[in-house]
Amino acid sequence: MKLRDNGLGFSPVTIALHWLVAALLLSIIGFDIAICQTAGEVQSAGLTRIQNLLGTILFVISIYRFGARMSSYHPLPVGTPNPIEVIVSRSVAVSLALAMVLLPIAAWLSKSAAGEGIDLPGGFAIPALIEPNAQVKPVVDILFNVGATAFLLGLALHIFGALKNHLVLRNDALKRMIGKHVEL
Ligand code: HEM
Repeated sequence: MKLRDNGLGFSPVTIALHWLVAALLLSIIGFDIAICQTAGEVQSAGLTRIQNLLGTILFVISIYRFGARMSSYHPLPVGTPNPIEVIVSRSVAVSLALAMVLLPIAAWLSKSAAGEGIDLPGGFAIPALIEPNAQVKPVVDILFNVGATAFLLGLALHIFGALKNHLVLRNDALKRMIGKHVEL
């Protein structure tokens, strides 16, 4: 099995991890909404622990994924896009992968600065990164919010590009990302 991407296509590992990351991200956002709507403290703490576990899995996968993205060839584009589009779409994809590493670190720093641990199901917890610090927390929170907003804008552009390729240009860019073999 091809483990790494090359100029001709994405590896099955890249494809599987791409959609796993997308699903984890969606679930984490779903948990956020559920936690905001849950009145009971015990229930909301339980949901937060599961959300933390999903975030931890996402973080570990994202470290591998960013490393793999930076160290392998990005396959040639499908169709005949202009070079600017290729540069923009690849830069957005790499930035999304990097954000999936940096945003969890910012969230971890923020919790640590607030003196809170990252509780996981089963009584496990991830230790704090730094000592509680009231000055650091607002700075990290601002960085997180700016980063998360940029990430969501980039993701919207990324999904727009995928849909444009699929629905308007009618090429196989999206199908390649779900495993279809494309002759280039
Ligand atoms: C519904 C959601 C999504 C759709 C429809 C989508 C679609 C695609 C498509 C079609 C490609 C292939 C681009 C090419 O041919 O060069 C791609 C690649 C990529 N996407 Fe997404 N994507 C989605 C969500 C995400 C998310 C949440 C991330 C963020 C972390 C992400 C990060 C990447 C990266 C880094 C690549 C390059 C290949 C890789 O290293 O995995 N995508 N995506």
